[in-house]
Amino acid sequence: MNKTTTALALNISTTLVTSFRPIPKRLSLLAAIFRELSRSARATLGRQPRRERAALNFVRAHAVEGNAESVLCALDRFAREQRFLMNLGNTKGRVLDALVAQLPVKARILELGTYCGYSAVRMARLLRGGGQIVSIEANPRHARIAQAICQFAGVDDHVHIMVGESSALIPTLTDPFDLVFMDHNKDEYALDLWCLEDKGLIEPGSKIVADNVGPLFDASAYLKYVRTNSYNPYRSQYVECRLEYHAAHPDGMEISVWLGARQDDPALGVG
Ligand SMILES: C[S@@+](CC[C@H](N)C(=O)[O-])C[C@H]1O[C@@H](n2cnc3c(N)ncnc32)[C@H](O)[C@@H]1O
Repeated sequence: MNKTTTALALNISTTLVTSFRPIPKRLSLLAAIFRELSRSARATLGRQPRRERAALNFVRAHAVEGNAESVLCALDRFAREQRFLMNLGNTKGRVLDALVAQLPVKARILELGTYCGYSAVRMARLLRGGGQIVSIEANPRHARIAQAICQFAGVDDHVHIMVGESSALIPTLTDPFDLVFMDHNKDEYALDLWCLEDKGLIEPGSKIVADNVGPLFDASAYLKYVRTNSYNPYRSQYVECRLEYHAAHPDGMEISVWLGARQDDPALGVG
């Protein structure tokens, strides 16, 4: 079982054990796990490429080079019809689209968790006037696939992919971001956000969008941080959505606007 399937199975089985969902919902989760496991087994036995490489091949075969919309459609189709991908997906993607469309010209976006580049392509296609996305990905294999997909979509001029752990790379960044899209390891959301504040990489008015904070995932530490942080307050809103490519299952995104550090924050040394 590879990492994606394991993560999916773990997330879903944890939920099965700890929640009191009605039985049909649990059966539908189990069915999704078994469907994915059998697809993975078939792909391994058939010596097919890993799912991310297979997704890139599918994009090259079914999308139009230089046409970002067709690349997104091909990735969505692959994830629905062939193998699960941890992409943002189209439904939650539209929530992100609306936020990116409001950003200023030359917007700067930071993404944590590039995976195959789906959300990077999605945001880059809406950037106007030289906006830039810095996207951090820990897995070099994912980063290579994402680079190839961004290139095929014709958005690679706007997407700079950095390979490494977010906690190691965030402190190396210099200029502040208008929007941060968090879609990596949920356990690191709160600490990474704190580091962004601390390094001056967000400004009052910067938006933080966190994916996968719904009931299938445990993002309670992060949600507590953005909802109750009194010295670095956020205006924060939960948007109820559906899990990507599994519409029967609820998920959520938290959209937070940083209001700026309070001047009586002891961390500033003036409280
Ligand atoms: C859910 S996927 C990202 C999906 C992508 N944003 C999209 O919608 O197309 C999560 C990715 O985050 C990466 N990741 C996990 N922890 C990370 C970390 N601490 N730093 C950087 N990348 C990380 C994983 O390797 C994986 O590729």
